[in-house]
Amino acid sequence: MRLLFVGDVVGRSGRKVVLKELPGLRERLHADFVILNGENAAGGFGITEDICQEFLDAGADVITTGNHVWDQREALVFIERQERMLRPLNYPEGTPGRGSGVFKAANGADVLVINPMGRVFMADLDCPFRAVEKELQACALGEGADAIVIDFHAEATSEKLSLAHFVDGRVSFVVGTHTHVPTADDQILTGGTAYISDAGMSGDYDSVLGMDKEEPINRFMTRISGSRFEPAKGEGTLCGVAVEIDDASGLAKAISPVRIGGRLRQVEPDFWTD
Ligand SMILES: [Fe+2]
Ligand SMILES: [Fe+2]
Repeated sequence: MRLLFVGDVVGRSGRKVVLKELPGLRERLHADFVILNGENAAGGFGITEDICQEFLDAGADVITTGNHVWDQREALVFIERQERMLRPLNYPEGTPGRGSGVFKAANGADVLVINPMGRVFMADLDCPFRAVEKELQACALGEGADAIVIDFHAEATSEKLSLAHFVDGRVSFVVGTHTHVPTADDQILTGGTAYISDAGMSGDYDSVLGMDKEEPINRFMTRISGSRFEPAKGEGTLCGVAVEIDDASGLAKAISPVRIGGRLRQVEPDFWTD
């Protein structure tokens, strides 16, 4: 089974490159399942129902999010009817929406997607390790699900690596999001789980994490907010990760970054040629 993950889509530049490239990419890679993190899609802050639907129409199967999920207040309402969008798993009990779900891939496989959020340098949520463990107890690889993907939305690489090793051999793929910078540590862990600390963002890399440069520089230098953060408007890069999953075991066989368009060095996986 072939899986594609697209990192945090930031603003119009990110949406533009994703909507342009995703349908063709999905076809070229013969991807059976596509997950996209959409937490910064609407002007850099949150996601609207219309944008969510655009991503689904362009070939995404599931939209994951993170700390920005509620920046557009309408998300609190539409997430209840949009079953293909997830919010952080370990938010307080009673939070609208859901943090995990089982979805059908194009090859017929049942894919469990889990979207926990880290606690280091972030909000003080329930323990993501225990929250994930509970999900895996309820729906184990090879029993309730043919493949399991965790989008761990977290700041600290130590927390991401620790969670990945905690579930190694029990999950197909752990992908980090939130830092908006792609890391070069894509690998298959010793137990068979594919891992990367951060998929990177999909947006304009001539920026500070997808935002216009001036205001971040100003805030670092003066400690005073001058204006709102605005997404950078240059050409975007679709930044993500491709993973080949063994149909029998549900564990990973190969992992590669994917980068199309914009300023970053272009990368497509070399293990999918047919
Ligand atoms: Fe983000
Ligand atoms: Fe985030």
